Amino acid sequence: MAVAGQDLVFAVNGERFEVLSVDPSTTLLDFLRSNTRFKSVKLSCGEDKFVNFYVYLFLSEFVCEYSINSCLTLVCSINGCSITTSDGLGNTEKGFHPIHKRFAGFHASQCGFCTPGMCISLYSALSNAHNSKNSKSTPHYLTASAAEKSIVGNLCRCTGYRPIADACKSFAADVDIEDLGFNSFWRKGESREEMLKKLPPYNPDKDLFTFPEFLKEKIKRQQRNVLDQTRYRWSTPVSIAELQEILTATNREGDRGLMKLVVGNTGIGYYKEEKQYGRYIDISHIPEMSMIKKDDRGIEIGAAVTISKVIDALMEENTSAYVFKKIGIHMDKVANHFIRNSGSIGGNLVMAQSKNFPSDITTLLLAADASVHMINSGRHEKLRMGEFLVSPPIIDTKTFLLKVHIPSWAASSTTGFLFETYRAAPRPLGNALPYINAAFLAVVSHDASSKGIIVEKCRLAFGSFGGYHSIRAREVEDFLTGKLLSHSVLYEAVRLLKGVIVPSIETSYTEYKKSLAIGFLFDFLYPLIESGSWDSERKHIDGHVNPTISPPLLSSAQQVFESKEYHPVGEAVIKVGAELQASGEAIYVDDIPSLPNCVHGALIYSTKPLARIKSIGFRENVAPIGVLAVITFKDIPQMGKNIGYISMFGTGLLFADELTICAGQIIALVIADTQKHADLAAKLAVVEYDLRNIESPVLSVEDAVKKSSFFEVPPVYYPEPVGDISKGMAEADQKIRSVELRIGSQYFFYMETQTSLVFPDEDKCLVVYSSTQAAEYTQFAIAACLGIPERNVRVITRRLGGGFGGKAIKSMLIATACALAAQKLQRPVRMYLNRKTDMVMAGGRHPMKIIYSVGFRSDGKLTALELNVLVDAGIDVDVSLILPLNIVNSLKTYDWGALSFDIKVCKTNLPSRTSLRAPGEVQGSYIAESIIENVASSLNMDVDVVRRINVHTYESLRKFYKEVAGEPDEYTLPLLWDKLEISSDFKRRVESVKEFNHGNIWRKRGIARVPIVYQVKNRPTPGKVSILRDGSVVVEVAGIEMGQGLWTKVQQMVAYGLGMIKVDGSDQDLLERIRLLQIDTLSMTQSSYTAGSTTSENCCEAVRLCCVILAERLKPIMDQILENARTVTWDMLIQQAYAQSVDLSARTFYKPESSSAEYLNYGVVASEVEVDIVTGRTEIIRSDIIYDCGRSLNPAVDLGQIEGAFVQGIGFYMYEEYTTDGNGLVIEEGTWDYKIPTIDTIPKQFNVQILNSGHHKNRVLSSKASGEPPLLGAASVHCATRSAIKEARKQYLSWNCNNGDCRDTSDINGFELPIPAIMPVVKQLCGLESVEKYLELKTYP
Ligand SMILES: Cc1cc2nc3c(=O)[nH]c(=O)nc-3n(C[C@H](O)[C@H](O)[C@H](O)COP(=O)(O)OP(=O)(O)OC[C@H]3O[C@@H](n4cnc5c(N)ncnc54)[C@H](O)[C@@H]3O)c2cc1C
Ligand code: FES
Repeated sequence: MAVAGQDLVFAVNGERFEVLSVDPSTTLLDFLRSNTRFKSVKLSCGEDKFVNFYVYLFLSEFVCEYSINSCLTLVCSINGCSITTSDGLGNTEKGFHPIHKRFAGFHASQCGFCTPGMCISLYSALSNAHNSKNSKSTPHYLTASAAEKSIVGNLCRCTGYRPIADACKSFAADVDIEDLGFNSFWRKGESREEMLKKLPPYNPDKDLFTFPEFLKEKIKRQQRNVLDQTRYRWSTPVSIAELQEILTATNREGDRGLMKLVVGNTGIGYYKEEKQYGRYIDISHIPEMSMIKKDDRGIEIGAAVTISKVIDALMEENTSAYVFKKIGIHMDKVANHFIRNSGSIGGNLVMAQSKNFPSDITTLLLAADASVHMINSGRHEKLRMGEFLVSPPIIDTKTFLLKVHIPSWAASSTTGFLFETYRAAPRPLGNALPYINAAFLAVVSHDASSKGIIVEKCRLAFGSFGGYHSIRAREVEDFLTGKLLSHSVLYEAVRLLKGVIVPSIETSYTEYKKSLAIGFLFDFLYPLIESGSWDSERKHIDGHVNPTISPPLLSSAQQVFESKEYHPVGEAVIKVGAELQASGEAIYVDDIPSLPNCVHGALIYSTKPLARIKSIGFRENVAPIGVLAVITFKDIPQMGKNIGYISMFGTGLLFADELTICAGQIIALVIADTQKHADLAAKLAVVEYDLRNIESPVLSVEDAVKKSSFFEVPPVYYPEPVGDISKGMAEADQKIRSVELRIGSQYFFYMETQTSLVFPDEDKCLVVYSSTQAAEYTQFAIAACLGIPERNVRVITRRLGGGFGGKAIKSMLIATACALAAQKLQRPVRMYLNRKTDMVMAGGRHPMKIIYSVGFRSDGKLTALELNVLVDAGIDVDVSLILPLNIVNSLKTYDWGALSFDIKVCKTNLPSRTSLRAPGEVQGSYIAESIIENVASSLNMDVDVVRRINVHTYESLRKFYKEVAGEPDEYTLPLLWDKLEISSDFKRRVESVKEFNHGNIWRKRGIARVPIVYQVKNRPTPGKVSILRDGSVVVEVAGIEMGQGLWTKVQQMVAYGLGMIKVDGSDQDLLERIRLLQIDTLSMTQSSYTAGSTTSENCCEAVRLCCVILAERLKPIMDQILENARTVTWDMLIQQAYAQSVDLSARTFYKPESSSAEYLNYGVVASEVEVDIVTGRTEIIRSDIIYDCGRSLNPAVDLGQIEGAFVQGIGFYMYEEYTTDGNGLVIEEGTWDYKIPTIDTIPKQFNVQILNSGHHKNRVLSSKASGEPPLLGAASVHCATRSAIKEARKQYLSWNCNNGDCRDTSDINGFELPIPAIMPVVKQLCGLESVEKYLELKTYP
């Protein structure tokens, strides 16, 4: 029986929820998604990179508000709280919130999957600002910097972040409204007042939520926030004594390990829980563990205090020593604000102490000489941080952490006091674990005789460098203590430090980490040597930026051309459903409600590349909880075939049969009652392999060559060479021969992972909801697998949470597996892949090995290029046969004189690779730029000059691309090149980069400009437009909306097409009458797939043709009406047409002329970067893009595509490290290791201009594609980085030369900058030992 007042009660968006019993491991995400109608909370990674909701907690007299994440927060821990989600802020029924409206108007939502989380993050910042009305330290309005920072922890794969930052900053009181980017509220030239008036108004008193009265009453009545322990298995002790009692009772009952102490539960973001706990003990309500006390001796912090609250308390410090403040600043980069809002300091320390979690906080506390207070069975124990870290693990034992004490530090009148912290991480503002962190404390004094500085005392702590907990470098401390600082002393200290930082064997980048440690110590002490003084606001080493300082605000400028010629086509119409996406009401596959008997699937995949499967079972031979079936190839019906996908080049297996042919291949589908149980079961699956008599697998392209393991490329897909290569080589003054390049893979990182839901229908029919780019092919694959007619399979796709090519082929495997299970079990089956499985099976971009020889003249003119390319396609053909053509198409960006190649598509026992935005083209572009760089280096010429010399003339363009080159006036690349030179102030900046490099030792800059030439092809596409009785219009197209704005362009085109029937009334009205329908393969047949950048324009043309037909049918009716009336309205016309039984539905099949179906797209990009030689960090200072969209169908959409593609390209070139084990399985653990760009890693200044190149007679209303080509421009960032590194190497070499006389430049130029150019790679090329070398030079000049 329920105990009164001890029920789990909370509010979601003002509604009361009472849960009478629940598994205590249930997360709020699970609860919200399966028990409420609120769908804006989305699962993307399960690691808390996705904020989802905002919590209010009423603590008797005041309300605490903060944003946290729903996929880690346990539902029992929000008892008595009020939750606000994005669909609670506003929605279609009650009206959208100003945040939603501004996100829509700033074009800040593409696929929309990240948008509700972004909106809630901004809401949280607005609410914090509003609530700090009485605070003296923080302004009571939202600042532009806080607005930008509010989304630091959120990931978006589509937009490139710029428009999101603008939407957020539009709420800031200190923003200059003219600095905000392109939007649908105002147009250039309007006054500031007009602009402000046009923004959807925001009123904090009205637009912020309040705490519901019923919860206040409950909390007042209940006194204690406890739940009935029998129903919830959740204890909430409110005193130490009570906690001890519970722990003692557990010990009596048996296994303490079945109990879990919990505060924020964020630890499971890192250590995925495989264990089922019998009880959770929420320790956040114990006053001694939730207090913060300050006195002269220091600050005492309860172990359950959240990191955010610790930061707030520390930041209040105002003493000269600034120890607390600096710890606070550093802690602000720990994780992201959602984790910091719920994760506790104690949880962090315990994870570090017991599991070697790479903690920042332990390093900070170690340097500050903090201590911890623990309790074990009533026995109190105080340990200094260093002792605590090496004591036996306390996790899941009787011992618990009570509080932490950080002592006060202050300088005496005769000594100086220094405290600094450091962290080197892929993302400067946090949300990424550091490669290494450090914190240093020193007491120093003046030596009167030498005027130098003596180290009286120091504490040097380092952490997170691999495997172990944080440590102190005691040998170095001892060495430095009492020493007069000098170059030689510091030189000796860093040499000693090298022996102290010893990462564990399995750690990567060990030498890099050592060099970082040295760099940090150098930064700490060197300024003292140089200046001979100390200062609490001290400078860092010459030109080197303190990594803990926040960067300045982003800035941007956009120039777009809106055309009224085909109104409303060509205008920046807001994306269809943008507000719905922002509120979170937009429906994705996982938002479709399950029927009661729905079951869930998870994939068991092979970990061996080539092996016989002996058996499939589970650990300890027990089926895990909830498991209902395990489906394998044996379950495929007799009439069916083991087919998982169908592409234009063939088919691929659904399941491994007796033999697994690559690691990551699907072996089985485990079906369970919930997704959580299915995922756990897949993890606990045990596959036994038999390797006897199995030949060795093909695990590299070299193996493939040895075994002649290739896919045959049909001649029509194989590119043709250009010119006479022997002649070209003979014409060369110089040649570079047989240079090898290697390119790795890239993962899609769509926010919505692969997912499908299948319902069995009557008569062996299936309804399939799939997040796919290829609904029709999915239908074919399912029918082939099940051995049923295609008419029996209805595939429906409404929208995707991102695709980027990854849902063209691989999505079919998921849908087909679900369909097979649904058919067999006669139950609905759904599957939503977790991030790790998605990464394993997705395949990603094609890696390749290239060997090239290039011939050129002494003036930089290229004469011949010869290449051998081995493409690693993996085990399946997929769509890999398009690669040769795509690589060569983008290689042809330059006039090589003559071009010949041998490209082999290798079949390996590795996961099959598939198309990822600009497949083959991005690699081709990298190869081309790399060769150009090499040529320029060997000639010692400015690489920009070499590029310009070899950019095509129209004649050479024609030679390389034949008729695809189009008419002479369509070739706009030279124009763009010159325009960008002026708009980006390129020449002046080249000079200022030189100056900068001359004046800075530890930072170097580079600048580069690259051209984009990208070939695309229009494809046959159906479309259907139907007018309903009330004059509203429904449109079906073959293309799938995945964020690229396809629906919006189609909507505009239909409005334009029907607008040709000149009725009275507003055109805007027509636009609003149009609804785009989800694709249904039984209605929209021959829909093919959505890919290749041209689907939007193809769909537009198909519906335009439909409109022409409808206009012809409506014309006679119009004429009839006009015989008796002076005007005709749309409603009159349609009613009359209905009455006369006119067919108001038109379907067409647009078939582009084969002679003009293919065309070229052009753009130019310039980027400037700065490299930090100490850490290897690259900052993109500025990028300028000019891109020719022909006559853009919607400039807002195209701008979004350009920026988004470019930033995805930055990810490929600079950040996204994709590594596999020896068997080919991806090593990266989702968001922990795989780092896509975030708001703090995009260009600080980002200027984009869309060129209106005018009339193109063969293009759809003169438009051109924008989805993929701009991605290639990210090569500019890579090339600029290379140039900065070259400067660093030049400097390093000069330190190695006698008297600076260095003639041999081969060390400077002769290097390849690998992809991605992550921090360790950059640092290594700049010189891992640069600090030592520099000190050596200073010591022994
Ligand atoms: C995405 C992400 C990024 C992160 N990035 C960083 C980072 O950059 N730097 C960094 O330092 N940290 C980072 N962290 C770690 C983060 O600081 C911790 O997850 C958080 O502080 C844990 O606190 P919690 O209250 O959620 O602990 P919980 O998850 O509730 O508990 C963690 C463990 O500690 C035990 N425990 C908790 N409190 C006590 C106690 N008082 N006594 C005994 N046992 C206890 C629990 O039983 C559990 O086993 C990151 C975490 C995530 C999820
Ligand atoms: S719009 Fe952000 S992930 Fe798609």
